[in-house]
Amino acid sequence: MQLINEIEQLIKIAAKKAGIEESFSVSFSNMPKLCDFQCNNCFAVAKKYNINPFELANKIVSQISSNKDFVIEVAKPAFINIKLTDKKLAELVNTYLKDDLGGLEKHKQKQKVVLDYGGANVAKALHAGHLRSPITGEGLKRLYKLLGDEVIADVHLGDWGLQMGLTELQLFEDGILDFYFNKTTTKPEITLEMLNDAYPKASARKDKDEKFKEKADEWTLKIQRKEQPYYDIYKEIRKVSIEKIKENYKDLGATFDLWYGESDAEPYIQKAINIIKEKGLAKESNGALVVDVAIEGENIPIDKKDPSEIQRYKNPMPPAIIQKYNGGALYATTDIATILMRNEMFKNVDRIEYIVDARQKTHFIQVFRVCKMAGISPKDQQLIHIGYGTMNGKDGKPFKTRSGDTVKLSDIIELLISKAGEKLKSNNVQYDRATALKIGVGAMKFGDLINYVGKDYVFDLDKFLSFEGKTGPYLQYSLVRINSILNKVNCEGKIFTVNNEEERNIIRAILKLNSSYEIAYNEKSLSSICSACYELASAFSTFYNNYKIINEKDLTKKGSYISLIKLVKTKLEQALNVLAIEIPQKM
Ligand code: ARG
Repeated sequence: MQLINEIEQLIKIAAKKAGIEESFSVSFSNMPKLCDFQCNNCFAVAKKYNINPFELANKIVSQISSNKDFVIEVAKPAFINIKLTDKKLAELVNTYLKDDLGGLEKHKQKQKVVLDYGGANVAKALHAGHLRSPITGEGLKRLYKLLGDEVIADVHLGDWGLQMGLTELQLFEDGILDFYFNKTTTKPEITLEMLNDAYPKASARKDKDEKFKEKADEWTLKIQRKEQPYYDIYKEIRKVSIEKIKENYKDLGATFDLWYGESDAEPYIQKAINIIKEKGLAKESNGALVVDVAIEGENIPIDKKDPSEIQRYKNPMPPAIIQKYNGGALYATTDIATILMRNEMFKNVDRIEYIVDARQKTHFIQVFRVCKMAGISPKDQQLIHIGYGTMNGKDGKPFKTRSGDTVKLSDIIELLISKAGEKLKSNNVQYDRATALKIGVGAMKFGDLINYVGKDYVFDLDKFLSFEGKTGPYLQYSLVRINSILNKVNCEGKIFTVNNEEERNIIRAILKLNSSYEIAYNEKSLSSICSACYELASAFSTFYNNYKIINEKDLTKKGSYISLIKLVKTKLEQALNVLAIEIPQKM
């Protein structure tokens, strides 16, 4: 248990002994000179019991026997303040230094988790709207693993939907597929450029041209039924597309255990539909197969454009469409079949989590309800949609190019590399592409992850790339500096003892960082780790600016400094590793 939770436990027990059974919580103090932790609940509790808050606080504190680890005091009007002794702080540092996890604890009960993130669509270029999924997904995967969970990461490519039929049909009409229909004898090489041209054209056309849309539906169905030559062409398109997707995810540092797609759930589609039908859940509606998933009395909140708007609601959840009018599979079909597949392939999955755009909320509610009603997902299995907010441009609207098109991920990556390069150049640092990539991508990831996952944020590269403030480069730079100090210092670490207030601040920041992992785990958002990581780096920077370390003559003191710096290094590296932010050698 983290120290802060132990102290919270002590206060709860003391309050109970004093006859008050209420929830007391302990937080990190915002007046570090005065104390390290504080409990501010006495006001509210005293009000409830109609007693004097100051007396209540004293009564609780008097139940806690004196000890050598901390001093506990009541400050007027009714704060309980806890200050750790220097001895305890030093003991924490010396213990964490010897511990592989630096004071973190694995969960006693590990869970088996399938994480569904990435979600790139075959035949379409990856764009800005897909960026947050691999960034958050990779981070959550590493966090869960660090805390002991068994995680299976699946990229779940979108490769069984209408975009396939649309793209093929467009390529066909552009004369690229003649070979497959016996009109020429030379087999064409389908290129990424062809796909990047065909899909947007076809997608725009389907909204205006009903006939084209119907035909694309037909072609999609032929692919899904594996009819030739449609299926062979599909495999070709999939191959070309996935090569690029892999490159994009590699640049972002996102890795997966499974490179499955919607198409891999195909063998489970009929089985899933049969289960749903056998349970009597399916009905026909205009030729399509639907499942009513609405719940009595349910109101669905309509997303607010602005937090000050009053909350409005829409009517009950629309039915889930599980089969198209022409018998084809759609998005909900493959997601339901995939849950069936995951449960058959991996036994005893505790949680399946999806890191997908928050605007797909309705889709996931529908899919999850169908799976629970049909027993495709066992009762005690958690199905969770972690909906991320929109990445906006400076105009507050979803990030687009000047001409209003979606921004390709490859273009974002090139932009990150060139901006990071400019920065390094202006700092007179020699660099290569790999270094600029680490800094550029690190900047973007931190700029993203520092925001609570569900919140929208503004994509502001200049801000993200600043070497000062709450940014990725600032943290990377802190580690580059620490590494250079440790290289130069020429002295072993020795037993750590507390010498000054700046060190106290560092240790407090380490405690805060350690407890942020649990918060992140529960919130399913990495923002708390990002903030705590920044606080530690900035506490370190103050310490470093105020004390000479490399030239310190007193070797006991110097050795103590080195030990603390080593712990800061371990803790920052551990955090950046969870966030999947790489550390350059120089910057
Ligand atoms: N391909 C989907 C999209 O672009 C995202 C897939 C998310 N995962 C899932 N199991 N539905 O919107």
